[in-house]
Amino acid sequence: MDFETMSIREGRAEIIVPKPDYYRVSPNEYVPSKAPVFYNPLMKENRDFTVMVASVIRRRVGYSLCFGDSMAGVGVRSIRVVTEAGWDEAHVNDSSQRAFATIVMNIRLNRLEERLHASKMDANVFHVEHSPRGSRFDMLELDPFGTPVRFLDTCFQAVKHGGVLSVTATDTANLFGVHKRAARMLYGVNVLKTGFMREIGVRVLLKAVAEAAARNERGIEPIVSVTRRHYVKVLVRVLKGRKHAFKSVSQIRFLKLRRVEKIYVPLGVVDVEEGCEKDSLLLGPLYTGQTYSREWLEKMLLLKTENTFVDKDVFKTLETLVSDDQKIVGGIDLTGLASSLHVNPPGRSLIIERLAREGFTACRSGFDNNCVRTDAGLDELVRIIRSL
Ligand SMILES: C[S@@+](CC[C@H](N)C(=O)[O-])C[C@H]1O[C@@H](n2cnc3c(N)ncnc32)[C@H](O)[C@@H]1O
Repeated sequence: MDFETMSIREGRAEIIVPKPDYYRVSPNEYVPSKAPVFYNPLMKENRDFTVMVASVIRRRVGYSLCFGDSMAGVGVRSIRVVTEAGWDEAHVNDSSQRAFATIVMNIRLNRLEERLHASKMDANVFHVEHSPRGSRFDMLELDPFGTPVRFLDTCFQAVKHGGVLSVTATDTANLFGVHKRAARMLYGVNVLKTGFMREIGVRVLLKAVAEAAARNERGIEPIVSVTRRHYVKVLVRVLKGRKHAFKSVSQIRFLKLRRVEKIYVPLGVVDVEEGCEKDSLLLGPLYTGQTYSREWLEKMLLLKTENTFVDKDVFKTLETLVSDDQKIVGGIDLTGLASSLHVNPPGRSLIIERLAREGFTACRSGFDNNCVRTDAGLDELVRIIRSL
C-alpha cells in the first residue's frame, strides 16, 4: 500500500481502511471522498439495509447465492453479505487500483479467498461481463459518487429474474428539486423543492430505475426505499419480461400541486394529458406506485429479535416506513403550514388523531419528518390547527 492504513471492525468484517487523517479537512470534519480509497463509517447504516435484504433472501431460498458489488470501495459490504447474511459468493469490483489492492487485502484478512472474487473494471464493463445467463447476480449493489444514472441500464442485464438491484444516489440536491436544471438533465423530470422533498427524491430515483429496467425488458417491484442523511437508496426486485416492464412504467405519472403561500399542497396523481388548472402545476414524471413491499419490510423487521449487527436506527426507519400506508402521494408539511399561519408547529400525532376523528384518512409520511398524508383539504387542516 502506498498510503497509511488502520484496521477496524464493521459488523463481522475486519477491514483495512485509510487512516482518517487523509480525509480530515478540519478538526471535526471528514470527507471520505478525499481519501486514497473510499470508506465512510457513517454509511454503515446504508450497508445494513443491504445486509438485511440479503438475509431475508437467504432465508427464502436454499440454492447458492451470488452478490455483485460494482463500486465496492474497500469491499466491506460484500464481506458482510457473505459473513453476516450467509451468502455463498461475491464479485467485488472497483475501477480504482488502490481500491482493488485494498479489496484483495481485506478478502485475505477475512480468509474469504475461496468465496470473494476481486476485479478492477469500470462498473458498466463489470455489469456486461456478468450479463450472460449463468453469471448474473442474485443481488447487485450500485453505490456511486453522486448519480447512478450512467450505470443503470447495464445493471439490469446483470441481475437474474427475481433477483434484487440495490441503488444509492447521493446527488440529493438534484433529486429533491433544489437543482432543477440538473434534475431535468439527469433524470428527465421537472421538480421543485417542496415540503415533502425526500419523498419526491425517492420517486424521481425510482422513475429512473423503472425506465432503465423497461429499456432492458425488465420490470421492478420496490422492496424498500429509504432516504437518510445525504442519500436516497432503493432496493427493487427485477422481473424479466415486457409485461413486467409495462406494469412498472405505467406507474410513472405526474403529481398535481397547488401553491398556497409558502407550501405546496398535493392534489393527486394524474396523467400529462389530463393537464392542470390555472392555479395548479404538474410535478414529474415520477414513480407513483408503492415504494416498498410491506411483506419484505415485515420480514426485515423480524431480524430485530436476532443477534444482528444492524444499527437500532435502521430498524426505527423501517418501523416508520411500515406505518406509512402511502395511499396518497405527497403530503402537507405541518411546519411550513404553521409558519404561514404564524402559529407554533402542531404535533404530528395530534393532527393525525384529529383528522381521523373527523373521518379523514391520515398518516405520517415515512420519508419527510414534518409531513402528513391526508385526504382532508387544506381548509380543514387549517381549521383543525387553529382550533388547537
Ligand atoms: C461511494 S464509493 C463506494 C463505497 C462502497 N460501496 C462502500 O459501501 O463503502 C464509490 C466507489 O466507486 C468507485 N468508482 C468510481 N467510478 C467508478 C466506475 N466507473 N466503475 C467502478 N468503480 C468506480 C470509486 O473508486 C469508489 O471506491
